[in-house]
Amino acid sequence: MAAKIIVSGAGCCLVDLLYNNIDFHSKAIQPFLSKRRGDGGLTPGMLVLQEEFEKYCGTPLDQAVKKISGGRKHDKINIGGPSAVSLIHAAQMTDRDDCEVRFYGRGGSDDEGAYLFSALRKTPVVLRDYRLTDRRTPSTVVLSDPSFNDGHGERMFINSIGAAWDHSPDDLNADFFNSDIVVFGGTALVPRINDGLTSLLKKAKSNGCITVVNTVFDFRSEKSDPSKRWPIGESDESYRYIDLLIADREEALRLTGESDSLSAVRFFRNKKVSSVIITNGPENILTWSGGSFFSSAGLKEMPVSQRIKEELKKVREGDTTGCGDNFAGGVIASLVNQLRKGAGPPDLREACSWGIVSGGFACFYMGGTWFEEEPGEKLSMIKPYYESYLKQISG
Ligand SMILES: Nc1ncnc2c1ncn2[C@@H]1O[C@H](COP(=O)(O)OP(=O)(O)OP(=O)(O)O)[C@@H](O)[C@H]1O
Ligand SMILES: [Mg+2]
Repeated sequence: MAAKIIVSGAGCCLVDLLYNNIDFHSKAIQPFLSKRRGDGGLTPGMLVLQEEFEKYCGTPLDQAVKKISGGRKHDKINIGGPSAVSLIHAAQMTDRDDCEVRFYGRGGSDDEGAYLFSALRKTPVVLRDYRLTDRRTPSTVVLSDPSFNDGHGERMFINSIGAAWDHSPDDLNADFFNSDIVVFGGTALVPRINDGLTSLLKKAKSNGCITVVNTVFDFRSEKSDPSKRWPIGESDESYRYIDLLIADREEALRLTGESDSLSAVRFFRNKKVSSVIITNGPENILTWSGGSFFSSAGLKEMPVSQRIKEELKKVREGDTTGCGDNFAGGVIASLVNQLRKGAGPPDLREACSWGIVSGGFACFYMGGTWFEEEPGEKLSMIKPYYESYLKQISG
């Protein structure tokens, strides 16, 4: 049996600030609504970045939100971000004697930063180098109008990178790379880390780490040139240093500039990624492995959990926020457990099975993060779905 596995993660950790019952037809919101596509104003169903939004309306974000909400506070605050959410899930799904999950990141010295600090402390993730800087805490403001679109409801989003601007590759010191697995999650929302990803991945590999990258929609690249594929690090060389890449379909297509998942896999493969998983909401996932990291090689499809799909038809409380992040966390947890057993190269199908039930389970509750009453709680709830899933795929 291998020694305790150290997983170190850097990337996007933010607060989701939900404002419910915002009337998208109200007078107060009109100056902030988009008039032309891409002008920086708010559009139902779409996300804008703080900088473009402020430029458009000429009002600082806090004041704009005050005007829109009538001065009230958010109704709900949640931990979000593909790095934090996936690491929390990975830590919850592994035994503390087997694994330590560490997070490195930046927040702001404001109420939201204080919330993140205390909320993260309620999870098994170890805050290794999490500091608060003078900028605002990274956030996504979610404005929700449940009666919009004839009562179907719709949301509008404003994302602030804020203090994530203060996290730079130099902050990730030897301690970070002294790990078994390093995970870069949603770094498109941590610009300096994202821009230095090739060197960071290369360094991780030369330190003998396993490297995992899970992506997020890259609003900045999309905004700067929607016709160009999204860059990842200094160059495409990043891919050859990635042992496992996890992206949803939309992200995979935008990273590669391709128009279907198979072509995207071919692109990643040509760029020498070791393995890749492409998720697609309730549709099958697509995996490819070159056989250098995982035991098996080749292209495979796997269905999502039928049992979860069925149960979701009856459940009303949850939402799909954080499915992808929990999927990644489940895959990482399985990697840890397989490495800990030390029985040779990990099995991709086993890792994906845990990812699939973890991503699916996240549909049962609001937000991406589940706060456990006691260690092992979430694992004991997900395990029956894993067992059903094994039966489902064995025929
Ligand atoms: N409706 C669903 N029913 C069952 N499983 C689901 C459903 N939606 C998502 N999942 C599970 O979660 C995984 C990841 O979902 P998805 O591809 O939507 O990720 P994502 O787009 O990254 O989501 P997000 O960014 O909101 O976290 C899927 O592969 C699947 O296993
Ligand atoms: Mg995602």
